[in-house]
Amino acid sequence: MTCCCDGPKDPDDKQSGLENSGNSENQKAIESPGQSLGAVFPDWKKIFVSRQEFLKALSLSLGAFIVSLPSLPLIGFMFNYFVMPKREGWVSVGPVEKFKTGETVNVSFENPDPMPYDGVTAKNSAWLRRSGEDKFQAWAINCTHLGCPVRWEAGAGLFLCPCHGGVFDSGGDVAGGPPPRPMHRYPVRVANGQVQIAVRPVLSEG
Ligand code: FES
Repeated sequence: MTCCCDGPKDPDDKQSGLENSGNSENQKAIESPGQSLGAVFPDWKKIFVSRQEFLKALSLSLGAFIVSLPSLPLIGFMFNYFVMPKREGWVSVGPVEKFKTGETVNVSFENPDPMPYDGVTAKNSAWLRRSGEDKFQAWAINCTHLGCPVRWEAGAGLFLCPCHGGVFDSGGDVAGGPPPRPMHRYPVRVANGQVQIAVRPVLSEG
C-alpha cells in the first residue's frame, strides 16, 4: 500500500514537484514584495548604530589613541633600528702619526648615518689602540651590560665600567662583573694616512 505522504516515485513527478515549488516561491515574492526587497538591500539598522553606540566607540578609539601616543617614539626607534637598512660607514679619527704605538686613547667621531632627531647623540667615541706600525684596534665605548661608557685604566691595563663594576681585559674580553659579552670591536683600516673605523650602532643588553 502506498501512503499519500510518500514523495513522487516517477521522475516526471519530481520535475513537476520542483516546478510547483518554484511557482510557490514566485507566488510568495508576488504576495510579499517587501520581503523580496529586503533580500536585495542591506539591513540599515544593522549598519548604522545608535548615537549612543557611536559616541561610545568614538571615545574608546580616542582613548586608545591617546594611551598609545607615548609609545610612538619607541615604535619609531624599533622600526628604525630593526627595519631600516644601516650603512656601515668608515669614519676618520685622525692621521696615523697622531697615535703612539702601545697607547690606548679615546677618539671621537660623528655617526655616518644620522637621523634628523639624533642631535648631539650623533656624536660618539671609541677606544683606539695602536699596536703596530699600521696595526690598530678599536672598541665601542659602551659596556655590553647596560651601555654605560667604559674607561681605560692604563695602569691596570683594563677597561672599567663605573655603573655595576664591569671589568674588561686589555683585549676587551670580560674579566669580571655583569657584562655578558666582550666589548664590541670596530673594524679599523688605514687609508690615505688616516686611521678609519667602521662604525655602526651597538646594542647593549639593557
Ligand atoms: S653597565 Fe657596565 S656593568 Fe652594568
